[in-house]
Amino acid sequence: MRILTCNCHGLIKFPELNLGPDVKIEQYDNLCKLKPEIGADEKVVIAGCSPNLLEGIFPNTNAEFVNLLEHVTLVNHSLEKAKGLIVAAVEKMKQTPSVKTKVFDIKNKSALVIGGGIAGIEVATQLSKNGLSVKLIEKTPFLGGTVAKLDRLYPEGTPYSHTLMPLINKLQAYDNVAQLFNTEVTDVKGRVGDYKIKLKTNPRGVVQCINCGKCVDVCPVEINDDGKKRKAIYYVPTFPDMYAIDFEACTKCGECVKVCPGKIDLEQTIKETDIESGAIVVATGLNWYDVSKVQEYGYARLDGVMKTLEFERAIASGALQPNKVAIVYCAGSRDSKHLPYCSKICCLLGLKEAKLVKDRFPGAEVYIIAMDMRSYGTFEYLYNTLREKGVSFIKGKPSEINRRNGNLVVKTEDLFTNELLEIEVDTVVLSSGFVADAATFDQFNIKLNGDFPVLFENAGLGNYELPRGIFTAGAATFPSGVAETLVDARKASFSTLDLLSRDKIETKIPQAVVDEDQCSVCRMCIGTCPYNAISVVDDKIKINEELCMGCGICAITCPSYASQLEGWNHSGLYEQVRSLVKKGDVLAIMCRWSAYNATERVAHDKLKYPENVKIVRVPCTGAVDPSHIMLALQKGAKGVLIGGCYPDGCHYARGNFRAKAREQILKLHLDSLGMDKDMVRLEWIGKDEAHKFVEIVQEMNR
Ligand code: FES
Repeated sequence: MRILTCNCHGLIKFPELNLGPDVKIEQYDNLCKLKPEIGADEKVVIAGCSPNLLEGIFPNTNAEFVNLLEHVTLVNHSLEKAKGLIVAAVEKMKQTPSVKTKVFDIKNKSALVIGGGIAGIEVATQLSKNGLSVKLIEKTPFLGGTVAKLDRLYPEGTPYSHTLMPLINKLQAYDNVAQLFNTEVTDVKGRVGDYKIKLKTNPRGVVQCINCGKCVDVCPVEINDDGKKRKAIYYVPTFPDMYAIDFEACTKCGECVKVCPGKIDLEQTIKETDIESGAIVVATGLNWYDVSKVQEYGYARLDGVMKTLEFERAIASGALQPNKVAIVYCAGSRDSKHLPYCSKICCLLGLKEAKLVKDRFPGAEVYIIAMDMRSYGTFEYLYNTLREKGVSFIKGKPSEINRRNGNLVVKTEDLFTNELLEIEVDTVVLSSGFVADAATFDQFNIKLNGDFPVLFENAGLGNYELPRGIFTAGAATFPSGVAETLVDARKASFSTLDLLSRDKIETKIPQAVVDEDQCSVCRMCIGTCPYNAISVVDDKIKINEELCMGCGICAITCPSYASQLEGWNHSGLYEQVRSLVKKGDVLAIMCRWSAYNATERVAHDKLKYPENVKIVRVPCTGAVDPSHIMLALQKGAKGVLIGGCYPDGCHYARGNFRAKAREQILKLHLDSLGMDKDMVRLEWIGKDEAHKFVEIVQEMNR
């Protein structure tokens, strides 16, 4: 076996090592640049800086990484500790078989794009322009998404159609795009390069249409569509150029059928279709936060309190002519009770609404009440223009909105003047944030990082994720304005094109393997697999490589160790722990996605923790074997910390909850042995929670 060491231009020091004739040590100044050859089945230990970096330099390698930079050098730990970490890594690799290369054929060269807003339109255009066959599905009867509902786009106040219609027209120029309206995905099966998808198409009702509009005149049902009144039969001037019936509102009175010179069928039924595709792009757009949850602001309780979209549509349609408007920023955003994050574009939407009022009603008074104004880049010009036009900016966060003497009263502090204000207006606009399309992401097993998707493939995060061929585009990735949405859509298009231009993908993602000689076909693993990747075939347990995501949960469940996770097998980790842990140590077994990153952050935040804390990296806390924890305690460890992702953040379908259950059982076990049950702790530690990690290991060291 070889140990490749990198001193990072003299930054990292190495211990003297002699591990016998079978272990060859090679020292490099700059591994990133020199990149020595590593054989496909060769096993190596790479000791240098962060595995997060080195995995990117040496993808698809059978390697155990030793982080000497962040876990020794930068935290002023000794060369003796460095030696222990390297020796333990060698012991692990001796017992760890090479990870098999998996090959996924890209059988199907077509793509499914979900969402007919500007992101989906742009992706479908780029893919079809490059010769791919594309299915673009949209759940409403028209293209355009949120943009088609707006009046104007910021910063200049350009009509939405000036941007949207050229995009739609470009798309219509390609005949290799099938556009399906009123259509949603109901089921998806398969894997990268070979997806089988079921679609459900709801009826449009209008079969032939000459766009005369007579149906609208006679339709008796009027509804409020995000601030704008429309009938149950309606038209959006984008594409296709024909009316549609909103069957949720329609009473089937038949008046439209009587006057229609084309054809309306009120009895149309749902259609189901099976399609196949090699890649999927999720472009489902913006999802507004339900601002009625911010009860103190009175949305849906007080007339005149509106969301930005409703306000814009009401003004544009002439239904609203306000005299005094308060625009309340961060309605539910940057608030631990609602959305803890900033949605980035709501400040700009609020500015746009202020401009809309001032342009149409120059005499109207407009107040913008904001904790902060985030008008980044050139959007600052819009902010300055509004100040010149007399919009009043108040720094504060309103405590409540009520009605008094027919007016809405916004109670707020003003942090510039230190006054408490009561602003009387006729209209309040709540500029709220956005949430991820959790239902769609769940359908496609796209993990959310906190609230928005984790983009393994787009982010190129090393070689531990199955290439899925599922991408997100535009505001589905994170809230974005039109310009950014189009850039993100092009990125997703390039990723899709890159994937579908290949005939196959080769990867060394660790997956579960079953030793049939050891397996008693007890089937316990089947129920624990979160991906339904395990089944019984010819009385034998089989792992479906196309579905296994490499979480390792089945391996921990198997009572006979017949199931093992490649690269993290039981005996390899056992030897690593056995070699590493000394009496009085604290063993920290850290999830590679969260807590491990916090241990690295410690070094960069110039924090310190005791030298006896030894860190081992695992794919998920769900893959932590209680027998390894007991081994560490038998060797005299003061404690074992398991650090994992926060409850909703586990990358492997709740592996962290399984780890929590095991921790509880271990605590009971320790208690029954008369040992301190707090010697074992499972903690949720976020990527950037270096302080939390340090506090916990210091506590465990007392
Ligand atoms: Fe971090 Fe599961 S991936 S705990």
